[in-house]
Order: sequence, then C-alpha cells, then structure tokens
Amino acid sequence: MSIQSLGVGIVGYGFIGKVHAWAHRSLPFFYSPLPAETRLVGVCTTRPETAEAARREAGFEFATTNPNELLARPDINLIHCCTPNDSHGDLLLAALQAGKHVYCDKPLTHTLTEARRVADAARGVSTIHRMTFHYRFAPATLRAKELIESGFLGELYQFRAGYLHAGYIDPNRPRTWRTVMGKSGGGAIMDLGVHVFDLTRFLVGEFDAVNAQLVTRIPSRPDVVTGQPAPVDVDDIAIVQARTKSGAIGIVEASRLATGVQDELRIELHGSKGMIAWNLMDPNYLDVYDARDPEQALGGNRGVKRIECVSRYPKPWSFKTPKNTLGWNQLHAHSLYDFVRAVAENDTESGPTFADGFAAQAFVHACQESAAGGGIWTKIVSGDVE
Ligand SMILES: NC(=O)c1ccc[n+]([C@@H]2O[C@H](COP(=O)([O-])OP(=O)(O)OC[C@H]3O[C@@H](n4cnc5c(N)ncnc54)[C@H](O)[C@@H]3O)[C@@H](O)[C@H]2O)c1
Repeated sequence: MSIQSLGVGIVGYGFIGKVHAWAHRSLPFFYSPLPAETRLVGVCTTRPETAEAARREAGFEFATTNPNELLARPDINLIHCCTPNDSHGDLLLAALQAGKHVYCDKPLTHTLTEARRVADAARGVSTIHRMTFHYRFAPATLRAKELIESGFLGELYQFRAGYLHAGYIDPNRPRTWRTVMGKSGGGAIMDLGVHVFDLTRFLVGEFDAVNAQLVTRIPSRPDVVTGQPAPVDVDDIAIVQARTKSGAIGIVEASRLATGVQDELRIELHGSKGMIAWNLMDPNYLDVYDARDPEQALGGNRGVKRIECVSRYPKPWSFKTPKNTLGWNQLHAHSLYDFVRAVAENDTESGPTFADGFAAQAFVHACQESAAGGGIWTKIVSGDVE
C-alpha cells in the first residue's frame, strides 16, 4: 500500500520555524513506518530575501512573503504557524477556513478574545488542529501521565512548577515584538507560562483560579530598529498561586530574569501516595517517590527513585537502544510526529488541540486580571460555547 504524502507550508521561519522544518526532515530517521510522508513545499516570511534563504536552507520548493499563497495551494495540506503572536489569529482562521490541518506554535494568539474566535472556529472543522506544546511529548512526562492515571500519586495535594530563563538579564537586549504587549500579549507569563501551565494541566487536570504577581524589572530597552530607549510593557517575572478544580494548590512561576539558568522547566507533584518530579535540564529521568514503600529502621529502600526514561517512545519510534539520550529538539520531533499521525489517522480526539491552546490563554488572561487587580483570586474562564 502506498504511503500518504502531505505537503507542508511553514509561515514564519525565525527561531522556531527552522526547528519545525528540521523536525519534518528528521521524521523519516526516527519513525518507521511513517504514518505519512511529509514534503516541505512552501515557506513564508516577511521579506523576500529571508524567505529565499529559508527555502534554500531547509529545501522548500518555493518561498513567498504572502501566506495566502500557501493557503491557496492544493498540494499544501499542513500549515505551520510560526510567526509573532499578534499575527496568529488571522492566519489560523484563514488556514482553518482553507481546509488545512494546522500546527500552531504557542501561544494560540495574543489575546483571549482572539483565542476564543480561533477556538470556536476550530470546533467546527473536520481537519486536525494542534498546538506545539512539545513538553507533553517528553518520555518522562508521558510516563508521569501513565503513573498518575494508574493512581500512583493518590490524591494530589500540592504542586510546584516553573519555567525559568535568563535570556533578558542584559538590559541592552533590544526591545522586539516579545517585549511589546500589543504584539506578544504578555512577557514571561505568555512566552514561558503557557508551556508550564499546559504541562501541569496535562498532568493534574483542570485549573479553577489563580492569584498572580507580574513584575517588570527592566522597564525600558533599546528599540530594535532605532536603538533608542523604549518602554517595556510586559512582565519579566510571573509568580502565580494556582488552584485546581480537584482542590490541589500550587505555585507556577515563569521568568526571563532567572540568572544562572538556561531552560529550567521543573514540575513537582505531591500526592497522598507519592511524589513525581521532572526537570527539563535533566530530561532522561523521572523522579518518583512511593509513600507505600514500607518504612524500616535505617530507612530500608524507601526514597526517591529515578526512572530511566531516555528516548523510549513506543513504536513506530525506531531508535532501539536505551542509550539514546534525550534532547530538546527530540520533543519537537515527537510532537510533530504525533500531529502527522493524527492527520494520517484522522484522530480528532487527542491533543494538544486549539481547545488546549485556549485553556493556556485563559490561564494567562486570568493571571493578568489578577495582577492588575493587585493580586486577587481570579477564576479561569472556560472555552465552552457560551
Ligand atoms: N515552542 C517553542 O519552543 C517556541 C520557541 C520559540 C518561539 N515559539 C513561538 O513561535 C512563534 C515565533 O517565534 P520566533 O522566536 O520564531 O520568532 P522570530 O521573530 O524569530 O521569527 C518570526 C518569523 O515570522 C515571520 N513573520 C513575522 N510576521 C509575519 C507575518 N505577518 N506573516 C508571515 N510571516 C511573518 C518573520 O519574517 C520571521 O521569519 C511565537 O509565537 C513564539 O511564541 C515557540
């Protein structure tokens, strides 16, 4: 039987568009058999020279500065949204309208209103829509999910999660779209908060309310074009208390000023029967503690155990050695693989879908409302049809 061939159009080829193109090129090396074959057909950026450079680098068939050229092509089945946050909404709506399968790098959009428009539109389509919440696809988080579903944690009491970067500690790092509210929709809370919120929600279930402090420590940066000092109106640091619908309470942190760290995504879950913890900087292991292990004089064997998750994905993952350690790019490749699999199998049920993207956006929105009100407990709105 011949394998389905899916044409790919990537809109935006900056930092993350390149990672998505790399992931497509990598799929045949990592998965056998492939659920479908993918071909890089078109790439779109804002300037002809960057679009052409992207075409040459990744091997697309053509380059353009007009996203509609990708949407109009019948040989493009998958559209990737890899542009700054304020341009997501229109692109996603147009791509859904054009009948494409859509893969959106986070966040869904830059505002809750836009996010609702997109999530509502996605609810009515028969194509597949997915978010790039790739931390769901680390073997350690997939194993954590299995353990939680099997009752390992018992009743969840509390959690601690954070996503910390240090990329903005230099006050001379220029002000770009990421530090302008109208373009990004938020600073650390939008950039990093959506990831850690989605990962926590994936593992522990729905959230109910938040109580947030959003802080801007470097209120001005040189404008990327003029070099002149320009105001920064987004947060550098977000400290959030969060409550789940099941009654657990915890802290979610996001920061771009966490000096001394690189890509520190941590999650720690404490339940009545056990503990689960994972850190992206030590991605090969999932730490677990089973409170059912008997206590003995001198402790016996009771304590934290490290499960060696490495790159152990289920078939059709095809690197068979457990010596194959994990890297960040691999999470992107597996997230993309699962999108392609969902398209090939017409799997509209599994996620992360745009409904999950909306949930993350609603979390950010509630944090911003809470912080603006001086840190009051604020309900997270639901994505259900009103
Ligand atoms: N999941 C992750 O690991 C991750 C990491 C980084 C960025 N992101 C997300 O990816 C998106 C892009 O971030 P980035 O860091 O790659 O940004 P970037 O600034 O490096 O690149 C943006 C790209 O989009 C193009 N572009 C801008 N406006 C456009 C428009 N209206 N139409 C077509 N192309 C346009 C630019 O030419 C450029 O190629 C953001 O939403 C960001 O939050 C996700």
